[in-house]
Amino acid sequence: MATVDVVIMAAGKGTRMKSSKPKVLHQLAGRALLKHVVDTVTQLKVRRIAVVTGHGAAQVEDALAQAYPGIPLAYAKQEPQLGTGHAVLQAAPLLENDGVTLILNGDVPLISVVTLGQLLTACDGRHLSLLTVDLPDPTGYGRIVREGDAVRAIVEHKDASAAQRAIREIYTGVMAVPTAKLKAWLQRLTPDNAQGEFYLTDIVKFAVDDGDSVVAVKTDDALQVEGVNSPVQLAALERAWQLRQAHRLMEQGVRISDPARFDLRGRLDCAQDVEIDVNCVFEGEVTLGEGVRIGANCVIANARIDAGAVIHPFTHIDGERLGVQVGSGALVGPFARLRPGAQLGAEVHIGNFVEVKNSTLAAGAKANHLAYLGDATVGARVNYGAGSITANYDGANKHRTVIGDDVHVGSNCVLVAPVTIGAGGTVGAGSTITRSTEPGALSVARGKQVGIANWQRPQKKPKG
Ligand code: UD1
Ligand code: CA
Repeated sequence: MATVDVVIMAAGKGTRMKSSKPKVLHQLAGRALLKHVVDTVTQLKVRRIAVVTGHGAAQVEDALAQAYPGIPLAYAKQEPQLGTGHAVLQAAPLLENDGVTLILNGDVPLISVVTLGQLLTACDGRHLSLLTVDLPDPTGYGRIVREGDAVRAIVEHKDASAAQRAIREIYTGVMAVPTAKLKAWLQRLTPDNAQGEFYLTDIVKFAVDDGDSVVAVKTDDALQVEGVNSPVQLAALERAWQLRQAHRLMEQGVRISDPARFDLRGRLDCAQDVEIDVNCVFEGEVTLGEGVRIGANCVIANARIDAGAVIHPFTHIDGERLGVQVGSGALVGPFARLRPGAQLGAEVHIGNFVEVKNSTLAAGAKANHLAYLGDATVGARVNYGAGSITANYDGANKHRTVIGDDVHVGSNCVLVAPVTIGAGGTVGAGSTITRSTEPGALSVARGKQVGIANWQRPQKKPKG
């Protein structure tokens, strides 16, 4: 197969988005539209990826450089934007004559690697090949004009006759072209059309005039070729995509209470018998073990949740780069927050309004109410009382708290790190612990209770 170079067009303004952000940087399923395209293309074997930028070029290039530190992308500036043909012309110096150029739109995010593979196979290094689709309402798109089966031209909507506007087969904006021919055809483009632009689509006429072969690969999946031009279209495509992801998971056996109220902005791997209630959002990489149940209204990012764990409603888990692990049979929430580096062992219980950050809790440990564990190592079966916190930050540095196995920390305690609570020890309610404690000891650090009999409360002074 011929070597493939890619051109992604991303110079357009996206006027209808009515946003200061370049259109291709708006997000679908948690990723910029343009990132979807680049991610897909990088799954193909290609030599070079050239991005045509114009509006917001610096912003677009910055975003890509950050997202793909390892991949050298080439950029071609298009200023001003005189049409899709003019856009590809700017990238022409980046393309080698011996290859095939795959042209994509930066605002068509859901094109699949399989479909691109089919288009390249049809191209076979020799043929101008177009990806097309039949649409119930083709308004606005370039129509595929055929004579018999043979493709003769693409006619833009604004230039089309009434008869041509009745054609439902449209050009999706994706094509594969032998590069040497592409370059020659681009030189012949003129802007004598309804929009006064250099239409890339005019090269089809040139190919036909030259007696070159033009092939059309028709997809039956309109979602893959749908473009984004407005917030309404973006939201519609997001919903359609989320519904498709939900269906894919349900087909694997995941029970999703309402596929219309499900959002996956990354990757979700589920073992058997996982249940997900309504309004949950999954981000980054999330793995759910067998029989895991996720309650309503949870946001879960970059986490591994092991078999049988239950995440009750309104829980927020975000592992960011460090990740979060929830052990098998653990109970988390409602209203719990697990932050990066939270590692919960088997059967751990984290209750309402409990925050855990960069802390390890061994099997069976419990923090059930209103508590904070930061930079802590918590032993097995520890009971961590309501309202207790680790004071892990001295204003300059973070310090660790170590709580031995079987410790009982009473309610409303402050453990001032660095500090170790010896195994089997007890910390009395309301204690502020600043020194490490011995195993098995009771440690109490609070004002002694005083009782004054028959205490007279202050009286209000009489008026006047
Ligand atoms: C284009 C096709 C049309 C097709 C449709 C599919 C042409 C002339 N028409 O129409 O046949 O049905 O896509 O969605 O190609 N862009 C630039 N520079 C420019 C103009 C556009 O980079 O000067 C980029 C845009 O940012 C966008 C892409 O090219 O990513 C397509 O441009 P757009 O104006 O949306 O194309 P359409 O007119 O919709
Ligand atoms: Ca246009």
